[in-house]
Parts: sequence; structure tokens; C-alpha cells
Amino acid sequence: MARDDAPSYETEALRRFAEVLMARRTIDLYLHTPVPEKLVAEALETATWAPNHHVTEPWRFYRLGPETVAQTLDLCCDIVTAKKGPEAGDFKKQRWREKPGWLVVTCQTSDDSLRQTEDYAACCAAIQNFTLYLWKAGVGSKWTTGAITRDPRFADILGIDFAHEFVVGLIWYGYPKLTPTQTRKDLQQVLTDLP
Ligand SMILES: Cc1cc2nc3c(=O)[nH]c(=O)nc-3n(C[C@H](O)[C@H](O)[C@H](O)COP(=O)(O)O)c2cc1C
Repeated sequence: MARDDAPSYETEALRRFAEVLMARRTIDLYLHTPVPEKLVAEALETATWAPNHHVTEPWRFYRLGPETVAQTLDLCCDIVTAKKGPEAGDFKKQRWREKPGWLVVTCQTSDDSLRQTEDYAACCAAIQNFTLYLWKAGVGSKWTTGAITRDPRFADILGIDFAHEFVVGLIWYGYPKLTPTQTRKDLQQVLTDLP
């Protein structure tokens, strides 16, 4: 396409798209309003369209229902109690109990280290698709990689084998009660233009 024929990019739609990308924030505090399951399913569908080298589709998604969440809360409490004592364990459990939506994203393991790296990258891209789609619909999320995500007892709760897949993220989602602010470095600090 000749340069003069390039489509205009100064569109309202593109500006709004940038706004979605930049305004998304990690959300800690949520309202109790349930997130429609259909919306979550749609967000997961977008996740599966993330780029993935050799189209390995390395991601697996686990939506946690109330029984699984209850087991996860108990495990969270046990992990924190072992490290910091029962009061801290209970406190964390109460905080986690407030999270409305629970999703675990895993990546299939590979003996090939390059493939493993690329598959992990693809899973991260999938999570980003998921969270951005939800954000556009007014739903916030938090991606966590806390100790629980590497604990063998969590694998048992999920019914997975860490030899075959590992947790890329435990993602909480829900309508934000509070949206924090964030900053980023100026682009010039992280961009190098080479000749
Ligand atoms: C791979 C990954 C793991 C993360 N794990 C945690 C975590 O364990 N605990 C946490 O508080 N935030 C976690 N975060 C969220 C970051 O803290 C958050 O993205 C960062 O503070 C920037 O905020 P923003 O997402 O609102 O731009 C994680 C983010 C990523 C990408």
C-alpha cells in the first residue's frame, strides 16, 4: 500500500482503545456484584486468540467454584499461618474471601526450554487479553503469583499435575470498589531508537 493510502489512525475508536489499555489497573478491592458468567466466557474466548508460537495453545483455564475457592482459602490460611502465625493466616483468608471471581491460568510444561519460554509468554498474552476484555466491560482484575500458585497442595485442589502444567497466574476479577492510580516511566526512558 502506498504511504498516502495509509488509513487514518487518528480515530476516536483508536483513542478509546488506547484508553482501555492504559487505564486498566490491578484491582484489590471489589464490589459483591457478580460478574456475568457469559462475560467471563467471552473474555476467555479472547484469551485463546493470543499469539502463540507454533500455535501450541499452551494455556489451560480453571474457573473456581465455591467449593474449590473454600479449599483454596483454607490452603492460603495454612501457608500464611506456617510463615507468620494464625492471626496473619486468618487475616489473609478474610481478605481473600472478598474476591468475587477466581480463575487459574496454567501453562503446559515442555522439556524444550525455548518452547517453554515462548509458551509462558503466550499464556501471559492470553491473560492480558482476558483482563483487558473484562476491563472494557467495567470489570477489574488482579494477577497474582503468590506462593500458593507453586504449592503442590494447590495442584491437588485444582486436580492438576505440576509435572504437566504450572500456574502462570491466579486471577481475581470483579467490579472494582476502588481503582488505584499508577505511574509509568516516561517512554523516552525505556525507548531506544536505533538508526
Ligand atoms: C506476572 C505478574 C505477577 C503478579 N503478581 C502479583 C502478586 O503476586 N501480588 C501483587 O500484589 N500483584 C501482582 N501483580 C500485579 C502487579 O503488582 C501490578 O501489575 C503492578 O503493580 C502494576 O499495576 P497495574 O497493573 O495497575 O498497572 C503481578 C503482575 C504480573 C504481570
